[in-house]
Amino acid sequence: MSLPKAELHLHIEGTLEPELAFELAARNGVELPYADTEALRKAYQFDDLQSFLNLYYELMAVLRTERDFEDLANAYLARAATQGVRHAEIFFDPQAHIARGVDMGTVVEGLWRALGDSEARHGISTQLILCFLRDESAESALRTLEAAKPYLDRIVGVGLDSAEVGHPPVKFREVYEAAAALGLRRVAHAGEEGPPEYITEALDVLGVERIDHGLRCMESPELVARLVRDRIPLTLCPLSNVRLRTVDVLGDHPLPAMLDAGLLCTVNSDDPAYFGGYAGDNFDAVRSALGLGEEQLRELARNSFVASFLDHDEERRTR
Ligand code: HPA
Ligand code: ZN
Repeated sequence: MSLPKAELHLHIEGTLEPELAFELAARNGVELPYADTEALRKAYQFDDLQSFLNLYYELMAVLRTERDFEDLANAYLARAATQGVRHAEIFFDPQAHIARGVDMGTVVEGLWRALGDSEARHGISTQLILCFLRDESAESALRTLEAAKPYLDRIVGVGLDSAEVGHPPVKFREVYEAAAALGLRRVAHAGEEGPPEYITEALDVLGVERIDHGLRCMESPELVARLVRDRIPLTLCPLSNVRLRTVDVLGDHPLPAMLDAGLLCTVNSDDPAYFGGYAGDNFDAVRSALGLGEEQLRELARNSFVASFLDHDEERRTR
């Protein structure tokens, strides 16, 4: 589906395709515990978010140099361009790299080597969102924000990802306050596996402008009413929800009910190398599995620009 769209929920580390993982492993002398790309693909059977995260963090071992991050981002942008993506707000997980001895500068400068000329090369404008790992400590998040200070001209905002249950948004109050004081935009994953209360807390305590996933809002009519009233965007990732078993089959996905409720929904790919599809593939999948019509698909594409951090002049140019 090549309808022009913005992608607002995309982890750059989740775009690492098996072929590139093996190429980078060879380049960096890293041994992967899989015989070949086929054996690796066979490992992509997930029971829940944690079983995916285990593999996601394991494969990051191949990302070591600026050039690796540049190649990773260029591969994503080239692929996204073929699927109608015109603007991408890209998550990255610096703590997962710093823990392996790869510093913030290598990650940001490396990504920037691809992002800096993405408009000219791929026809995609980009922004970077630094995510804190919610299963790491609040102090570690604060240290990470400190390490990002030299690079803030390249970072539009902060997000919160990784294992959700047991790590409520309130744990990160202080670092979100510090991020707001630095002029950074704020988003957070909430209501993917965690309860609707985490969505409310992300809004009230962290002051987020968008909710990543937010699927479980549907368990609370009061929360749905608030999200509709305040036009809070939700960045849904339908193929991710099926692969991580948040929904049993795509045909059961609540997206149509969410649109009917008046929620500002967007469709995104999350970790496309692991979940079987890029942004356009997610649009195609919801069209065929959920019977969405042209008007609803256009609404989803329009919502992606409305929900983006582009200003409205930029938005018109991109569309
Ligand atoms: N949820 C939480 N953390 C993540 C995800 C996700 O879908 N992808 C990468 N990190
Ligand atoms: Zn995500």
